[in-house]
This record gives sequence, structure tokens and C-alpha cells, in this order.
Amino acid sequence: MGNINASVDLRRDGEIGLVIVDNPPVNALKHEVRAGLAAALGQARDDAAVKAVVIGCAGRTFFAGADITEFGKPPQTPGLGEVIAALDAMPKPVVAALHGTALGGGFELALACHFRVAAAAARVGLPEVKLGLLPGAGGTQRLPRLIGPEKALKMIITGDPIEAREALADGVIDKIVNGDLTEGAIAFARRVVAENRVLRRVRDRDDKLVAEGFADAAETLTRRLRGREGPAACVEAVRNAIVLPFDEGLKREGELFRQLMAGDQSRAQRHIFFAEREAARVPGIPDGTKPRAIATGAVIGAGTMGGGIAMCFANAGIPVTIVETGRDLLQRGLDRIAANYRTTVSRGGLSADEMERRMALIRGVAELDAVGAADFVIEAVFEEMDLKKRVFADLDRIAKTGAVLATNTSTLDVDEIARATKRPQDVLGTHFFSPANVMRLLEIVRGATTAPDALATAIALGRRLAKVPVTVGVCYGFVGNRMLARRSVEAERLLLEGALPQEVDDAVTGFGFPMGPFAMADMAGLDVGWRIRKGRGERNEIEDALCEAGHFGQKTGKGYFRYESGSRTPLPDPEVQRTIIDVSARLGITRRAITQEEIVERMIFPMINEGARILEEGIATRPGDIDVIWVYGYGWPVWRGGPMYYADRLGLAHIRDRLTLYADRSGDESLRPATRIRRLAAEGRGFTP
Ligand code: CAA
Ligand code: NAI
Repeated sequence: MGNINASVDLRRDGEIGLVIVDNPPVNALKHEVRAGLAAALGQARDDAAVKAVVIGCAGRTFFAGADITEFGKPPQTPGLGEVIAALDAMPKPVVAALHGTALGGGFELALACHFRVAAAAARVGLPEVKLGLLPGAGGTQRLPRLIGPEKALKMIITGDPIEAREALADGVIDKIVNGDLTEGAIAFARRVVAENRVLRRVRDRDDKLVAEGFADAAETLTRRLRGREGPAACVEAVRNAIVLPFDEGLKREGELFRQLMAGDQSRAQRHIFFAEREAARVPGIPDGTKPRAIATGAVIGAGTMGGGIAMCFANAGIPVTIVETGRDLLQRGLDRIAANYRTTVSRGGLSADEMERRMALIRGVAELDAVGAADFVIEAVFEEMDLKKRVFADLDRIAKTGAVLATNTSTLDVDEIARATKRPQDVLGTHFFSPANVMRLLEIVRGATTAPDALATAIALGRRLAKVPVTVGVCYGFVGNRMLARRSVEAERLLLEGALPQEVDDAVTGFGFPMGPFAMADMAGLDVGWRIRKGRGERNEIEDALCEAGHFGQKTGKGYFRYESGSRTPLPDPEVQRTIIDVSARLGITRRAITQEEIVERMIFPMINEGARILEEGIATRPGDIDVIWVYGYGWPVWRGGPMYYADRLGLAHIRDRLTLYADRSGDESLRPATRIRRLAAEGRGFTP
């Protein structure tokens, strides 16, 4: 009894052996924890005075899973499987006491206990699929036995956790403890002993193992995940739970887990997991920098972005004031917010009460003076420099001392906007992506004069708003859109040279993006860019020709594709094909067949080239930051790890050679490989050291 090792403690409370693990921050099941657990279980088993065991964790959460930093390294015994086997063999009742997020291997360990009790705010889940894996410690065999294969597969394939209340209703946990969790768990264990309850292991149950409906559920859940190894393995493993004896199913689960772990997809997804967390570490923010307190927010402009951003605040429980130029526009903005929430309610994603609570956090006003009390102000007015400068000059007068003043500009110079105030240290960019209440990415634009604590405040707020914040520097389009612009140029060129919109989009979706560039353009609308170009005297031959013929995108039922009424499915349009061929002819271009491989390269390599320049200029801190931006903001397939990671996997010498070829062929010097690519390729290295 007492300290088993630095992470695991075993003490006795009367007849209950209490195992407490303390491995901050998330009690990952690293080797020392596993060894400690195995030893503690052995001692508790052999101690005649112990009649039942409670396993719990100190700190903010029950085990959040296997220790991901150990992945890809030689395994050290005991593995989690051995700890779980020891639980299976335990002749005394074992109760898991869950709080925080019991995830992955942590939840699987709990599933091997005889009973599970949980704090009311606890959540349980199997997120392994998000790392390109499947639950590899019995989760695919035990969870279906507890809640049926269909529901289990849903949890395993989405990777999304469920709340304690739902877990109780489904029989995943046995009790919710209000008040002190450890005391509640001990009391529960005492009752089990006193009542001499029959010990029924999850592995021995089979009443829920019905095959009916499983195949359909699997088909529905994986329809959009073709080509993904993790989800396919999850389906196989859960099916095994139905058709194979427990031990055989477990063995096969282990094989699949090891296969996935060694594969490219999981490696890429693990890269993104760590890159996302690394992005939170921003050079130039000294250790110990305290973010400023944010109790209230304000958003200026109740348009597309302003409305979505206000929803982000409300969703996070932060009161927010939204400002418009007049009552009518304000009401229109508030109506759009309410309509958005109503859609979520009607789809079952939100209760009507919760919608009311959120709407009540949003206060609409038509006077800028009302933002004087806000701790964080986000400007989302039209994309016009003079207007933004006027707004910031007003904010300088109105906003309280220490408030962070942010612009949601997509292209304008944040430093110039900051100079419109006498407090440029408090000014920065928060570049949300549309729809702002849905998209996870938040580019935080650090100006030349932004104070470290203002930046830290924006990052902290971003996380509170459930975003993935990535800090970038000032330049036209910042990181994501600046790279995307390269793809747009090349997409148009492909059409002129011989490809059709559907061929380009098929290649891009075939690569793993949810949507191709032309379907995306149709969704956004082609007319906005057309009008801007007209104003500037610029031309985009094909798109302008389409706009001149009334093809504005989905909103007119035709753009690069045609749309049947009420449908968003892009269909190839012979009229568009004729237009494209005409434009090529008019420009004297001889069209040729272009392979899917070439299309993919030309959609991706110029972006990688721009990413390299972005790194050279220090606009992004590290290649991983760019990867995170592309995964969370643009639908880059996470299992390909982001553009810079992908480039490293292909080898920079290959990227260099192909870019050189495309630059020679097109005469476009911007396609020449960036200095960084040439240097790293010559040294045989990648972007990531
Ligand atoms: N292993 C190692 N480190 C982990 C970890 C894990 N499973 N989970 C989180 N961490 C680390 C993070 O890298 C981060 O480290 P830094 O502070 O050094 O950046 C730190 O813990 C805190 O993490 P977050 O910043 O993410 O904290 P949060 O409070 O926002 O979220 C969390 C906490 C919900 C647990 C989240 O970290 C998370 O989702 N973790 C991953 C959970 C997971 O995928 N578990 C399954 C692992 S695979 C498995 O278990 C395989 C199996 O079946 C045997
Ligand atoms: P929008 O046109 O939908 O909304 C702008 C709103 O600001 C309008 O409702 C307008 O009445 C209001 N407004 C104008 N002047 C104002 C003032 N002085 N005070 C208060 N409100 C004022 O524009 P959208 O799309 O929401 O864009 C806003 C900003 O966000 C722009 O800077 C844009 O570049 C940027 N952005 C847009 C994205 C998008 O996809 N739409 C994505 C990321 C950034």
C-alpha cells in the first residue's frame, strides 16, 4: 500500500482498495502508469483485507487514453492489454470512477472494470479514429457487448464522446455521482460488496450482439469515408464482435491496430494532432504571459461573418454585443442568427431552451458607443480600408483601456488599421472562416506592434470559442488564402489547356478534399469576383465569360456546373464546356488531354511552393502551422497530414523538379521552386527538421 511509483498510489479505505493515478495533464496511460496499475491490481488482489477496488485519477480527467508520444516507439511491457487482462482476471469487484474525458484506452480500461460510476460532467468516448486508428485495447469488442454493435460503431467511427447522462441511459455507466466522486465510488463499491453482487464482465455478455441493421449502419457511417483505412478497420472489428468469440475478436483487433499504427494515414493524423497543439506555442510570447480577462465581447457588423462570430461567443457562453449601422440591418442580422440556430434545433443538434439561452447572450445595438464595456472587440464590416480605419479610430475613442481590438479582414494590412488608433499594441487580426460558427480554423494575425499579452488573449479566446487558433504574420491573404490563390490561378489554366471543371474537381475530391475548386466557386458565387475585376480593369477569361452569360453559381442554378432546382449537386454542363473550348480557341491555345495525376500536382504543388515562401518570410512559424490551417480551414484530407507534411513525404526534390517543369512549360516564373525548396531538396531534407 502507499506509493506504487511516481504516478500510481494504492491506499485502503476500510475494505476498499483505492488506486489513484496522477500523471498530469491528462493522465495518459504511459508506461509508468501501466506498470503501476498492474502492480496495484496485483497487491489489491492478494490483500485479503481488500474486498473491492476503485480506480480513479487525480487532476482534471480520468485517463484520456494511451500516451500518444509512445506511438511508433518500441512497445514496453506491460502493455495496456496486459493491464486489462489483469482486470479481466480480477476475482474482486473493480469500480472505475470517471471524470473529465475518459477517452480511448482510458475508456477501454473502464470497460474492463465490473462497474463504472461517473461525475455528472464526465464524457466518455473512443476517439482513436481521429488518429487514424481503431480502439486497440478491447473497445471494439466490449462496447458492442454493452450497447449493441450499431450504436458502438457510431461512437467508434465518429470518435465523438457522449455525455455521462447519455452513457447512463445506454448502460455504459452504472451511476452518476453528484458530489465527491471518489467518496461516491467508494460508497458504490461498499454496496456491491455488502449486496454480494454477481460480477458480470462485459466480455461475457452477448445479449446485445445482434447483427440485424449492422451492415446498413456501417454503410451509412462510412459512405463519406472511402479510402480511409481507420473507419474500414473499425467496421471489420465491430463486425467481428458479432461473429467471432471474444478472444478471437480481440486478437484481430490487435492486428488491425498494429497495421494502422504502422500505416501512412495514422502517421499523418498523429502529425496533425501534435501540430495543432504545437501551434499554440508562439515564439515571442514570454513564458508566464497572462492573457487578459474576457468577460464580454463585441462584434461590429452583423453580416455573414459578424453574425457567425457573434454565435461563436454565445455558443461559448460569453455575452456579446453586435453593432450595425441601422435598425433594419441589425434586425436582418439577428434574424439570420436566429434562423441558423433554428436549423440546428430542427436537426436535433440543440435544444430549444439552449437556443433561447444563446440568443439571450447576443445583444444587438445600432450605436457603436455600446461596445465601450467589451473586453474583446471584433470588427467585421465591409472589406474597405478607409471604412475599417474609421471604425478603429472610433473604437480608439470608445473602447475601454486594455480591450483587444481585432479586425476580421481577409486581405487588408492589419498594421495600417492599427495605426488608426493610439493603441496599436492592442490591435490584431482574427481571421475567421465562413461559416464562422462552423469552421474550426482561426488565423490570428499578429501585427508589427501587437503586444504579446494581446496575442495570448486572442489565442486563449480562440480556444474558448472552440477554434483552432494559428498565429500568422501580416501579408496579402495571410497563409490560407494566399496559398489558395495559387490553386485558383492554376485551376483556370487547366481549363484553358484542356481540362473540364468536372475533371479538375474529380481529381481534387479524389485526392480527398470534400469539394473541388469549381464546385466551391459555384457555392461562393462567381459574380462578386467578376464585379471586383471589372472595377479594376482585370479579366479572368473563362469565369468572366460565364458571368456574362448569367452563370453566377448555385444562386442562379448554373456556374461552372449546372444545378437542378433545389439541389446542390454539381452536374457537368455542356454549355460551360462550349464556352471553355471557345475561350481556348480565341486565345489560340491547342487543347490537350490532361491526366488526373497532372491535375493533382498542379492543384497542390504551387500551393506548397507558396507555403515555402510563407515560411521564408516568417509569415507562418512552422510547416506544421500551415498543415493545421489547411486541415481545419480548407478541408485538406487530414489523413494526408497537410500540404507541407505531404510535400515531405513525396520528397522535396520531386516537388522541385515538377515545379521547374511547370514553370518552364507555362513561362510563369512564380511557379519556379522557392529558395527554401531548392535548398532543402539539395540537402536531402524536408520542411520539417
Ligand atoms: N497522450 C499524450 N499526450 C496527450 C494525450 C495523449 N493521449 N492527450 C493529450 N495530450 C497532451 C497534449 O499533447 C497537450 O500537451 P502540451 O500541453 O504539451 O501541448 C496536453 O496533453 C493537453 O492537451 P490539450 O491541449 O489537448 O488539452 P485539452 O484540455 O484541450 O483536451 C483532451 C484534453 C480532450 C484529453 C485532448 O487532449 C484529447 O483529445 N487528447 C487525445 C485523446 C485521444 O485521442 N485518446 C486516444 C489515444 S489512442 C488510444 O488510446 C489507443 C488505444 O486504444 C490503446
Ligand atoms: P457582409 O457584407 O456580409 O457584412 C458586413 C456588414 O457590416 C454589413 O451588414 C454592413 O451593414 C456592416 N457595416 C458596414 N459598416 C459598418 C459600420 N460602420 N458599423 C457597423 N456595421 C457596419 O460582409 P462579410 O462577408 O461578413 O465580411 C465582413 C468582413 O469579414 C470583411 O472584412 C471580409 O473581408 C471578412 N471576411 C469574409 C469572409 C467571407 O467568407 N465572407 C471570410 C473571412 C473574412
